[in-house]
Amino acid sequence: MEGRKVLLEVKHLKQYFNQGKPNMVKAVDDVSFQIYEGETLGLVGESGCGKSTTGRTIIRLYEATGGKVLFRGKDVHGKKSKKELKEFNHKMQMIFQDPYASLNPRMKVSDIIAEGIDIHGLAKTKEERMEKVYELLETVGLSREHANRYPHEFSGGQRQRIGIARALAVQPDFIIADEPISALDVSIQAQVVNLLKDLQKEKGLTYLFIAHDLSMVKYISDRIGVMYFGKLVELATSEDLYDHPLHPYTKSLLSAIPQPDPISERLRKRTEYNPAVHGYTPDEEVKMREISPGHFVMCSEKEYNQYQKERLVVK
Ligand SMILES: Nc1ncnc2c1ncn2[C@@H]1O[C@H](COP(=O)(O)OP(=O)(O)O)[C@@H](O)[C@H]1O
Ligand SMILES: [Mg+2]
Repeated sequence: MEGRKVLLEVKHLKQYFNQGKPNMVKAVDDVSFQIYEGETLGLVGESGCGKSTTGRTIIRLYEATGGKVLFRGKDVHGKKSKKELKEFNHKMQMIFQDPYASLNPRMKVSDIIAEGIDIHGLAKTKEERMEKVYELLETVGLSREHANRYPHEFSGGQRQRIGIARALAVQPDFIIADEPISALDVSIQAQVVNLLKDLQKEKGLTYLFIAHDLSMVKYISDRIGVMYFGKLVELATSEDLYDHPLHPYTKSLLSAIPQPDPISERLRKRTEYNPAVHGYTPDEEVKMREISPGHFVMCSEKEYNQYQKERLVVK
């Protein structure tokens, strides 16, 4: 990643819901990472660990309770003029998990897709607006005849394509895809992932790709971050994470992936993560440490030394 331009920088991001109340939730708790221009960063972890909140906070659907988000070096949060906000909204878009819930059932596909075009004034005439809609439909593998239909007339995969077209309409640089394939049939998942990959190549897009398991993420991500209870616990290139997982939570996630080969599947041992395995003492500093270039793990100094050895043995 040396020499690559950073597009998005998340610095000590915090999102505490109901702060100061007994029901406070530290949904995102001091998370830092960078996303490089043109790459896909996968973000994985079990349901409720704070992935969506991380995405939603980056894109300012929620105001952060701490930390910073820099987009091309500019602070996304804090007080912003209307013009600046519009500019950020223009450059960052989100695709949601549930293509059923995220499309307004009473709106025609053309109006759903053109919403951003209208908000940002990207078409001068009605004809230009419709031309853009047709082009977007074709870009995502649908056809112009679909423009006058309503969301309920489409399958799950097609609806997700509409969601993708809607995101693309404002020509963003960065897209957060929040479990975009989790609600789809397995047979359709690869098609949507391939579409996202093709679009990335074609348009030079940068993705934050959120998923709850590790099975499809490797295929789309350059690097992967693993979240556990609001914290980022491991960050590495996809290959490194699969070949040399270090944090016991990452290992447990990997052990949960079913193997296509029957023998490997029979031999597969599921491990459960128990945070007590760390046995941290109060004086130990637990933080992200770089084990090898670009491979970070949340650990104490003692674990750091163990992980160093573990890596050497596996290699
Ligand atoms: N708007 C909200 N208000 C209060 N708590 C929330 C809100 N949104 C999410 N949470 C809580 O924050 C935690 C992280 O949720 P979320 O980011 O949705 O996790 P994930 O996307 O990884 O499943 C969960 O405990 C969830 O209940
Ligand atoms: Mg989520």
